[in-house]
Amino acid sequence: MAETAPRPAILISRVLPEESLRLARSRADVDLHSGDRPLPREELVARLRGRPGLVCLITDTIDEPLLAACPDLRVVSNVAVGFNNIDVAAATRRGVVVTNTPDVLTETTADFTWTLLMATARRLIEADRYVREGKFTQWELMVLLGGDVHGKTLGVLGFGRIGRAVARRALGFNMRVLYHDASPAVGAVEQELRASAADLETLLRESDFVTVHTPLLPETHHLINARTLTLMKKTAYLINASRGPVVEEAALAQALKEGWIAGAGLDVYEHEPKVHPELLGLPNVVLAPHIASASHDTRIQMANLAVENCLAVLEGRTPPTPVNPEVLTRR
Ligand code: GLV
Repeated sequence: MAETAPRPAILISRVLPEESLRLARSRADVDLHSGDRPLPREELVARLRGRPGLVCLITDTIDEPLLAACPDLRVVSNVAVGFNNIDVAAATRRGVVVTNTPDVLTETTADFTWTLLMATARRLIEADRYVREGKFTQWELMVLLGGDVHGKTLGVLGFGRIGRAVARRALGFNMRVLYHDASPAVGAVEQELRASAADLETLLRESDFVTVHTPLLPETHHLINARTLTLMKKTAYLINASRGPVVEEAALAQALKEGWIAGAGLDVYEHEPKVHPELLGLPNVVLAPHIASASHDTRIQMANLAVENCLAVLEGRTPPTPVNPEVLTRR
């Protein structure tokens, strides 16, 4: 009689969609943290004893000391495309596979970037408030004027999957697209998206909308700061749906208050979930609580992919989307 392989044990650090939990439970013994706050570190360590798999969120910090305290851990599966909450180099040194959830959220995140961009330029949140406060008592020619989007220049910082999906949508608005990325796109992509590579200064000086899509790396930390903000047009808007610390929030608050730029749309914050107190009082910034990938379908796909990644590693297969595939070939 063929022996059945033992079911792997995994910890899921926060509640996932029902479908993803069913998938996990069909192939693993699941310890689910069902609380609505991240597990405190000591509890995370305790619950990872004897469990080689972790499915976690960006609110879980997986650093070297945690990895050192969890010798049974073999895979950390993040339910996100970004993985700056995980010390990947430390995981690689310890032979722990790290996975993320790219692709499945690209289009949804690009949609939301445009939601923020349009809402910011056309002052949608202020307009909504205006109506609710009973101020819409007559049509007026000069009320709630915003910036045009069509025909303007869009500057995309970080021209990966999401940056490109954002640029593709700009074709419909007949915009000129500039992009800046450490590795320039091939000619065919530039032609298809009608996008041109630019150095950072040129992009900032010439764009009417600057949208940030870089990962958070030492090189991108505070990429947008007091100096780079002053390079932008006074009529320009900054949109950030990538990672908060790419923008120096205090400098942005000053720029918005003093009119160095016209406005900003933010989905992410430097010290998330804290928001710089000055931003909260400014009318020319639209604030969202890190929801760019938050559509029903996409969040289910992200969670399913994360579970699949985790189970694949523990079942001895190559996970669909590893971050440090070199660990797999070392085994
Ligand atoms: C969300 O921020 C993600 O990285 O997927």
